[in-house]
Amino acid sequence: MTEPEEQVRAAFVTQAGWCDRLGAPFTALLCRLLGDRLGRSTELGRQVLRWPGNGDPFVDALALRLCGGLHALVRRGDAPSLAQFYPPSDMPEAESLWAALRPVLADPALLPWLGGAPQTNEVGRAALLMSGLLVIADRFPQPLELLELGASAGLNLHLDNYGYDLGGLHAGDPASPLRLKPNWTGPPPPDRAVAIAGRRGVDLNPLDPRQDGERLLAYVWPDQQARIARLETALALAAGDPPLVDRGDAAEWLEARLAEPAAGGVTRVVLHSVAFHYFPAATQARITAMIAEAGATAAEESPLAWLRYETEPDEDRFTLRLRLWPSGEERLLASCDPHGNRVDWLAG
Ligand SMILES: C[S@@+](CC[C@H](N)C(=O)[O-])C[C@H]1O[C@@H](n2cnc3c(N)ncnc32)[C@H](O)[C@@H]1O
Repeated sequence: MTEPEEQVRAAFVTQAGWCDRLGAPFTALLCRLLGDRLGRSTELGRQVLRWPGNGDPFVDALALRLCGGLHALVRRGDAPSLAQFYPPSDMPEAESLWAALRPVLADPALLPWLGGAPQTNEVGRAALLMSGLLVIADRFPQPLELLELGASAGLNLHLDNYGYDLGGLHAGDPASPLRLKPNWTGPPPPDRAVAIAGRRGVDLNPLDPRQDGERLLAYVWPDQQARIARLETALALAAGDPPLVDRGDAAEWLEARLAEPAAGGVTRVVLHSVAFHYFPAATQARITAMIAEAGATAAEESPLAWLRYETEPDEDRFTLRLRLWPSGEERLLASCDPHGNRVDWLAG
């Protein structure tokens, strides 16, 4: 085996381990089979096994590119013999799955999926973001202006369109077809009204909920049917009122937003979820510096909040953190999983 091929096969095995740990055993099996058995008899196999040296195939999420393409074919009914093995069917035998998978690997429709990085927009995270907004509204009882970095399709910019049970506290729209109820420990967040005066986001590659829904759905692991169902509901809601997500780099965009005068009686909220560590280091540093600078000029009637649902460097968990100005106080609000399914609420 040549060295790049070894790296590619190892990347599929590593991805399989992550899928197992994150509750996606079917996708794990798919990755193992592809890593073990993919050959050079198809154009797809040749492109995968000689993955260009522009990066680590695991970091490039090569296995997930291919799994996304397969899921897309299955979802649109173009691979019925493979589809019969996909969840919610019972976990298949490896040999049966491979027999169904092998012919599909010759489908040229899979090739474009190798060219693009997987992109998601996880609406389960709205439960954490809404909890953070409740804390902000508790401290400053006035409308909020949301500025979301790495917003993807912008589905979490419309988080007040969803209904929530946050540790027993009901929030959001009680009539919403999308209900989010994470497993919760600790007290609930404050019982406050959240009024949104403005919302706008940025992404390097903004997706349109009316056209790109199937692409987003394809990257959700088929094992996780509840995530797929809530994404479908959020996409349908957003199609009627598409969120405003500009194309651009987060730092450049935020600089322009923060240069606009802050309205009195409105709290400006910069927020992001599972996005910051994808930003280049220079972008991260610029954002951190410019928010601190804007915070220094914030006032009690025009405060600034920075709400982050991220994993911190050297930390093996996701957290919800909030910084508020004019005081500059920093709060650790919650420890959580990456998809908004589990929340350990830490704030009093
Ligand atoms: C894992 S997704 C998370 C999307 C969304 N925040 C969520 O929670 O579902 C990360 C997003 O960050 C975007 N992104 C990466 N680098 C960026 C940058 N420099 N500026 C703006 N967006 C960026 C990606 O395009 C992608 O949509």
